[in-house]
Amino acid sequence: MSESIHFSTKLIKETVAVDPQTGAANVPVYLSSTFHQKDFDHYGKYDYTRSGNPTREALEDAIAALEGGARGFAFASGMAAISTAFLLLSAGDHAIVPKNVYGGTFRILTQVLGRFGIDHTFVDTTNLDEVEQAIRPNTKVIYVETPSNPTLAVTDIRAVVKLAKAHRCLTFVDNTFMTPVFQRPLELGADLVLHSATKFISGHSDVIAGLAVARTEELADKVYFLQNALGAVLGVQDSWLLLRGLKTLDVRIRKSADSAQRVAEFFTTQSEVRNVFYPGLSNHPGSELHAEQAASGGAVLSFELEDEAAARTFVNHVQLPVFAVSLGAVESILSYPPKMSHAELNEEEREKAGIGSGLLRLSVGLEDAEDLIRDFSNALDFVRNQEKVTVRSVD
Ligand SMILES: Cc1ncc(COP(=O)(O)O)c(C=O)c1O
Repeated sequence: MSESIHFSTKLIKETVAVDPQTGAANVPVYLSSTFHQKDFDHYGKYDYTRSGNPTREALEDAIAALEGGARGFAFASGMAAISTAFLLLSAGDHAIVPKNVYGGTFRILTQVLGRFGIDHTFVDTTNLDEVEQAIRPNTKVIYVETPSNPTLAVTDIRAVVKLAKAHRCLTFVDNTFMTPVFQRPLELGADLVLHSATKFISGHSDVIAGLAVARTEELADKVYFLQNALGAVLGVQDSWLLLRGLKTLDVRIRKSADSAQRVAEFFTTQSEVRNVFYPGLSNHPGSELHAEQAASGGAVLSFELEDEAAARTFVNHVQLPVFAVSLGAVESILSYPPKMSHAELNEEEREKAGIGSGLLRLSVGLEDAEDLIRDFSNALDFVRNQEKVTVRSVD
């Protein structure tokens, strides 16, 4: 088939594989940890599921094709994928990482990798001068999360890749928020794409999973070695669930992103909302750059209320979203980053990362945007009334 097919067609093409033996329209769930070898001297393609399994492989092939890389890898969680990727580095190596990186990535860098002699510097990756100044002779990786969690800060992937290449470093991109539907970092020159597939790719809040895609065979061989050596592989049933999630990814994330745009615009009109962070808003820092490297503002936004008390009131009065850790599901998910995704950071570190005490993150699901906006408008009424009560009691 021609290469000019649309991404939504490619998504189905890569995830529906008719079983040659039975004609089944779905990849079978090969629940087998081991595989019989027919020949004493020559072993077949599969021998043991940690090293390779046909169901997991179907998922790994699909994500590799969708991200446009040489090979894909499925892990037991996003953090398993990210940790394995950082173990491409050795003692004495250094990584440059966004200061507002996902809390779990922050934790592995600050509390684990340092013990093995892998050093890091946190920088504002939206500021290329800061990135360049942090490069040392032993820097091996520049790590990017764009848009970042939870302030949706936009980093120029192409520019970082250029800097990295000039200094013989690799570029890793956490593409969880955009997915390959909206942003394909390997096409922009990155070397490794990482996902918390727990989020949009699974899409139903029912799987913990991670994915990685390497651009070159050379890097893929190294990732494969580590995946097999460390063993944090994705289980077979969860691999199948991710394949199922992938099939509807395009429609799910597009509908959620359309609603997110409307919800973000609504929040900008509300006096109780001090700040709205969403790359689809033209006044969001880096929105033009984002539009050059991604096809949508995505389905996640953050907004800032006056303080923790206002955030609490809002959360206590919304009816539709679940109040939970995580994002990227059919149901809208509201979370409070200071106590959830970024609880690993102390107050000073949170302050530096722009995570104020009134910040809430919203992952927009598949509910109707009008219903969501009505729900949020109602919760904001409570915030407004609470403010009045507080002011009155001070009087
Ligand atoms: C941007 C980002 N990267 C990585 C992770 C870690 O993924 P997991 O929870 O699947 O280990 C998360 C989880 O919230 C995330 O939001």
